[in-house]
Amino acid sequence: MNTKEALRKAKSALAKTGLKEYYLDALVLLSHATNKSKEYLLAHPEFKLSPDQKAIFLRSVNQRKKKAPVAYITGNKEFFGINLSVNKHVLIPRPETEMLVEKGIELASKHAHSTVVDMGTGSGCVIISIARALKNQSQLNNYKLFGIDISLEALKTARQNSRKSGLENDIIFLKGNLLRSFFEQQKDLIGKPLIILANLPYLSAGLYQKLPQGISYYEPKTALVGHGDDGLDLYRRFFAQIRDFRQSNISICFEFSPEQKERLEKIINNKIPFAQTSFQKDLSGRWRIGTVLF
Ligand SMILES: C[S@@+](CC[C@H](N)C(=O)[O-])C[C@H]1O[C@@H](n2cnc3c(N)ncnc32)[C@H](O)[C@@H]1O
Repeated sequence: MNTKEALRKAKSALAKTGLKEYYLDALVLLSHATNKSKEYLLAHPEFKLSPDQKAIFLRSVNQRKKKAPVAYITGNKEFFGINLSVNKHVLIPRPETEMLVEKGIELASKHAHSTVVDMGTGSGCVIISIARALKNQSQLNNYKLFGIDISLEALKTARQNSRKSGLENDIIFLKGNLLRSFFEQQKDLIGKPLIILANLPYLSAGLYQKLPQGISYYEPKTALVGHGDDGLDLYRRFFAQIRDFRQSNISICFEFSPEQKERLEKIINNKIPFAQTSFQKDLSGRWRIGTVLF
């Protein structure tokens, strides 16, 4: 089987299952199976697959036919220009989360010598991207960086990704249920600037039931469901913990689903009435991140 035949076979199999991006999916899976770039494969329709490559490719196409996400099949996802390892224990990083990284970098540059905490770190995509940006600006030594998650498997993946990016000594990954144990252990934070970034699960149980099969069947439920009728209970607890820490000079930036903006605004006004809150839209014009300063 050569490249041209492999792509033709995969395209037709994937198109039949209703996958919109069947051509790109086929190309990415072929690139994964052969270890050749997409550009090389397109330029070499005659390239012949070895028996092992063919077996990997056909197996990958079969998994994709069952709606397994391409990133889980290949084990990789590009985020903020970094190639991250992903697996069934971590959410596949979404492009819109890059906004959280941009905001995190902006906040870090305004608050030199701060501590930056990535709450619900998953694959580590947010804190690793920030660490790399600070390293490129030769600023990394001026910050303390943490990634926190409730899932030990996610933390294992995040540590693996930090090693892959040469940042294993620059980020501390901790297990925690939101921020309580972090605040208890890090008493020396008091009085110093603190930046907290969060992409916590925000789906209600009802919305979770309505997710496309490719998400609900494959991606971890603990990374998606935020509890409570509106899915925002984790954010309620998160803001209450920050208020109870009784500290000032805190900047929080968090991601949410566009229709939750008003509800979140009320939650923040109720939990931290003295904070300055603002919201930003994503590139498609939908509310996506909030910033809380006090
Ligand atoms: C929406 S995912 C975000 C992952 C990653 N930050 C990203 O943006 O791709 C939410 C993460 O929060 C973690 N999580 C869920 N409940 C948590 C809790 N109570 N305390 C800490 N982490 C939690 C999940 O394990 C998951 O990794």
